[in-house]
Amino acid sequence: METDLPGDFYESIKSRLYERIGRAVRLAYRVLDLGCGACELARFLRETYRQRVTGVDVSERAFPGHPHRAKGRSSLRCVKADARHLGFVRDGGIDAVVPCGPSTR
Ligand SMILES: C[S@@+](CC[C@H](N)C(=O)[O-])C[C@H]1O[C@@H](n2cnc3c(N)ncnc32)[C@H](O)[C@@H]1O
Repeated sequence: METDLPGDFYESIKSRLYERIGRAVRLAYRVLDLGCGACELARFLRETYRQRVTGVDVSERAFPGHPHRAKGRSSLRCVKADARHLGFVRDGGIDAVVPCGPSTR
């Protein structure tokens, strides 16, 4: 299927998308962001709502300039893992999940 969307479409809607997601999960404290890419949404949620966010992405290209796994009890953790296997998340340890986008394999 061909579309006429401009190449910067996602960038042009990103801030509004983050605001909508933020409103949807604003009452949560511990948030899991699946398919987090560079953890931009995770950082937005931490800074806007003071949430503890764990970003998960399977890609080698995710988290540029960030460690894959932050040490200690940071309010932002970026974990390189497959969202289909979340063994590191303990039962009852998450209040809200932002699911992977359409590109999720
Ligand atoms: C549309 S991008 C994410 C955009 C990001 N959430 C943002 O706000 O900029 C989709 C991401 O999902 C990741 N992904 C795809 N399949 C995955 C899986 N099985 N587990 C974890 N991450 C996955 C990709 O590596 C990619 O970074």
